[in-house]
Amino acid sequence: MEDRPINPSLNSPVTHSSPEDRSPVLEIIGGHRLSGEVRISGAKNSALVLMAGSLLCSQDCRIRNVPSLADVARMGEVLSALGVKITRKDDALEIDARHLSQSKAPYELVSQLRASFFIIGPLLARLGIARIPLPGGCAIGARPVDLHVRGLQAMGADVQIEHGTVHACIPGVNRRLKGARIYLDYPSVGATETLMMAATLADGETILENAAQEPEVVDLANFCRAMGARIRGAGTNTIVISGVPSLHSVDYAVIPDRVEVGTFLVAGAITQSELSLAPVVPDHLTAVIAKLRAIGSEVVQETPSRLRIVPGTSRLGTDIETLPYPGFPTDMQAQFMALLTLSEGDSIITETVFENRMGHVAELNRMGADIRTKGNHAVIRGVPFLTGAPVVATDLRASAALVLAGLAARGTTIIQGLHHLDRGYDDLEGKLKLLGAQIRRVKGDAGAESVSSLPVMPRS
Ligand code: UD1
Repeated sequence: MEDRPINPSLNSPVTHSSPEDRSPVLEIIGGHRLSGEVRISGAKNSALVLMAGSLLCSQDCRIRNVPSLADVARMGEVLSALGVKITRKDDALEIDARHLSQSKAPYELVSQLRASFFIIGPLLARLGIARIPLPGGCAIGARPVDLHVRGLQAMGADVQIEHGTVHACIPGVNRRLKGARIYLDYPSVGATETLMMAATLADGETILENAAQEPEVVDLANFCRAMGARIRGAGTNTIVISGVPSLHSVDYAVIPDRVEVGTFLVAGAITQSELSLAPVVPDHLTAVIAKLRAIGSEVVQETPSRLRIVPGTSRLGTDIETLPYPGFPTDMQAQFMALLTLSEGDSIITETVFENRMGHVAELNRMGADIRTKGNHAVIRGVPFLTGAPVVATDLRASAALVLAGLAARGTTIIQGLHHLDRGYDDLEGKLKLLGAQIRRVKGDAGAESVSSLPVMPRS
């Protein structure tokens, strides 16, 4: 095995920040049991793509159960830049895309948020033209958009990539995409969503084969159907969309965030605490629950929408391979790696979805974990305990893994790079505090002064 990071001295005072760095950090004093109930927020990945889908509709859209996240705020800015009116009232977004006028999304926003690229499908369907910069998002791999582009081309769009921007337009007079039979080389979540949205307003029938089956794809299909789209087969690998001339207004609630649920289930297992979580859709978590059971925790379904984690007396290692849904989700890989660092014996994690999603390994090793990587494999040898350390979050789910490790570790963990965490978790530290965790956001250099979390979208 190669790439083995060196374990630093566990009591090292080393910090990755300069004395001038005042960015907030998260301070966690580990080793405390948690208890209580967690209220699960709406799913980030659903909310973002439903916001893109709202562009399909030239009447009012209301999307409820939208989490308070930096990514949602950024997506709101993308929609505003296109001439869309968007306001937030409590957990609901009111979106009016009647006057959708701009076909060009701003680089500064799209470069920060991969999901914003998914507006290319609805923009093309509504305006017949779209100009979207190549996207950004977490640095977890190359993340090309070739499947989106080839699918749109199959539906009759003329697509060119020039100077880092994807230029797409529909030639001809009626400016409507044409239904097509499209086989995706890989069941990409984003490409499935882009093409499904584009097809809702196309002429004729589109068949997406080898489509992604993620619950967020089903949520988008249900949202579009609630606006009058004709879609069947979402949740299987073949989705059939019959185009309609227009869509009507909608009031729709986002599904619960299965990654947030998974993260709190791991919080229970890693701190050996019983936690109760609601609302959840247990069927969305089959692979995650199976792995928690293999590690030695029990997950009890208390009601159709409530789960309780009951940790076992010991934790056992297990092997995990990330896969498209219904396989084990790549978005839970880092959190399970944190848990497996404290599980007996050896575990192997194989990351097959993204090529560069092991940034948390070096940071977990700073906390006393014993993880070696080779390519997309990580071998985790369980250790009896972790020790608090200064660490840096490298991406969204890596930051959650460090929080989980910090909750279980002896002593104080200081996590930098909180902008990653704020992209995708709705008040994680507030929810953990309610469970009894010793966690607070403080200014970067001193570790003393509390600061408040997230700024988000203007509220009406
Ligand atoms: C979505 C989720 C993300 C999750 C991922 C996989 C959102 C906003 N994000 O990301 O949290 O981790 O699904 O479950 O919903 N690929 C290509 N060409 C393409 C598209 C994708 O090669 O045109 C590759 C990607 O580089 C990656 C793999 O396919 O290696 C999976 O990507 P995809 O399923 O598209 O993920 P996203 O939609 O970006």
